Amino acid sequence: MNKHRIPVIAGNWKMYKTRDEALQFIYAVNQEMPSRDEVETVICANDVLLRDLVKRQGESLKIGAQNMHFAENGAFTGETSPLVLETTGVAYVIIGHSERRAMFNETDETVNLKVHSAIKHDLTPIVCVGESLEIREAGTTNEVVKNQIIKAYANLNDKDALSTIVAYEPIWAIGTGKTATPEQAEETIKAIRDVLASLYGEVASKIRILYGGSVNAKNIDALLAKENIDGALVGGASLDVSSYLTLVKAALNK
Ligand code: 13P
Repeated sequence: MNKHRIPVIAGNWKMYKTRDEALQFIYAVNQEMPSRDEVETVICANDVLLRDLVKRQGESLKIGAQNMHFAENGAFTGETSPLVLETTGVAYVIIGHSERRAMFNETDETVNLKVHSAIKHDLTPIVCVGESLEIREAGTTNEVVKNQIIKAYANLNDKDALSTIVAYEPIWAIGTGKTATPEQAEETIKAIRDVLASLYGEVASKIRILYGGSVNAKNIDALLAKENIDGALVGGASLDVSSYLTLVKAALNK
């Protein structure tokens, strides 16, 4: 981490938690949230829960969505409008998570459309990129991930790029308990920052880049110790109050 960038600990609850469980979690963590100047905390929850969670989010913890359509409205049965997210008070949205790319036909092109649309609607996009195990083993990770970034950021200006957050999530590390080593994560995240620098110059040094993939209370410190890793996008370990708070405190102590 670098002290010029405020760290981000973002939870991605995926399709977990009932309304009662979600409300209990928010109530419990709100008591212990540090100020947003020290660490940005976000929980990305199921759409149906967003309105209730936004109402109870408190001063520090903010609520995000896990996906959205790029269009404001239209005949898109079952999709979520960015305008509805914005007017619900949602602050962040995950874009291009590998589960959506793999199972719901998300492409680099739709990711780019969604990034533009999220910014237009005052939502901070958490833009996900990451490689499969085959790509890692073939040794082309950095090339593939850089290409995902170039496509995701197509036609985005400096000011808008600055309002994005990147999440590097190697697919083989998600939900597997097999975290990338801090060195592997740092190497690819540095490559991401370099490609952002080729697009945006100095601005790249201000964009937060997170690591995601089996992050937990045991490995967070070593990950955050790396210069270019500005926080984490966390699945499983964000479901439990004390484990989420441990991650937040780790970011706070850096
Ligand atoms: P896990 O932390 O459960 O591996 O999930 C990572 C993830 O996909 C966050 O978006």
